[in-house]
Amino acid sequence: MAGRLANKVAIVTGAGSRGPGLGNGKATSILFAREGARVLCVDSVLERAEETVKEIAREGGDASAGAADVTRASDCRAMVAAAVERYGRLDILHNNVGIESRAGILEVSEEEWDRVMAVDLKSMMLASQAAIPMLLERGGAITCVSSIAALRGHQRTAYAAAKAGVIGLVITLAEQLAPKRIRVNAIAPGQVWTPMVAYHGEPGREERRRRTPLGIEGTAWDIGWAAVYLASDEARWVTGQTLIVDGGLTLTTR
Ligand SMILES: NC(=O)c1ccc[n+]([C@@H]2O[C@H](COP(=O)([O-])OP(=O)(O)OC[C@H]3O[C@@H](n4cnc5c(N)ncnc54)[C@H](O)[C@@H]3O)[C@@H](O)[C@H]2O)c1
Repeated sequence: MAGRLANKVAIVTGAGSRGPGLGNGKATSILFAREGARVLCVDSVLERAEETVKEIAREGGDASAGAADVTRASDCRAMVAAAVERYGRLDILHNNVGIESRAGILEVSEEEWDRVMAVDLKSMMLASQAAIPMLLERGGAITCVSSIAALRGHQRTAYAAAKAGVIGLVITLAEQLAPKRIRVNAIAPGQVWTPMVAYHGEPGREERRRRTPLGIEGTAWDIGWAAVYLASDEARWVTGQTLIVDGGLTLTTR
C-alpha cells in the first residue's frame, strides 16, 4: 500500500545510523520516503544523514540531509526552517534521537544524567516547540521514540527516566495540541537489533531474540512501520498513545 504519506513533508531526527546496519531513524526515513513523503533527514553527524538520503535517492525517493544538534533550540529552529524552505510545508515531526545509558543508580554521574536528559528528552521538547508553529497551518503528527525501558525495570537509570519522560511529554502535548489537529504519540521499541546495541555482540543478539516471546528478532523496520502508521492519516483518531513494538516482551514476567 504505497502512498500512505503522499504529499506530506517529514522531518526525522537522528536519521542516520551510528554504525554499519540500520538504525530506527534510518529505517523510518526510508519507509516515509517509500510511502511518498518528502523527508528532511537530520543528524548531528551530517555524513550519517547523507548516507540515509543516498539510500532513499537510490530507490527514487525524495529526501535531503541536514545537520543539527537537537539539544539546541537554535538548531531545532534552523532544522524546521530548512524543511519549510526546501519543501514549502511541514506535516510530520519524527523525534527519534536517543542515546543509551546503562548505569545503575549508584553509578550514574550527574553529567551522564544531564546529558541523557538533554539528548533523550529535552531535544524532543525543543524540536516540537520549533515545529508546532508550522504544523498549526493544517494539522500534523509528532511521534516521539521512547523505549520499553520506560515501562519495565531494566537497570538503566537515566535512560529509563528520560524515556518515561518522553511518554509524559507526549501525553501533555497531545492534550494541548488536539484542538489544533496535531496528533502526538510515542513508540516504545523493545529489544530491536540496531547499531546502538551492537556492543551486545552476537551472543547478546541471540539472547535478545530468544527472550522475545515471538522468537524472532526485531529490526529497525518494525519500528519504522509503526512510525509510518502513526504519521499517516490512518491514525487520524489516535493521539496521546504509546505504541509498544516489542515482539511481546512486556507481556512476560521475569
Ligand atoms: N535499538 C534498540 O534496541 C532500541 C530500543 C528502544 C529504543 N530505542 C530508541 O531508538 C532511537 C534510535 O536508536 P537507534 O538504535 O536507531 O540509534 P543510532 O545511534 O543508530 O541512531 C541515532 C542517530 O542519532 C544521532 N544523534 C545522536 N544525538 C543527536 C543529537 N543531539 N542531535 C541530532 N542527532 C543526534 C546519531 O548521530 C545517530 O546517527 C533512540 O531514541 C533509542 O533510544 C532503541
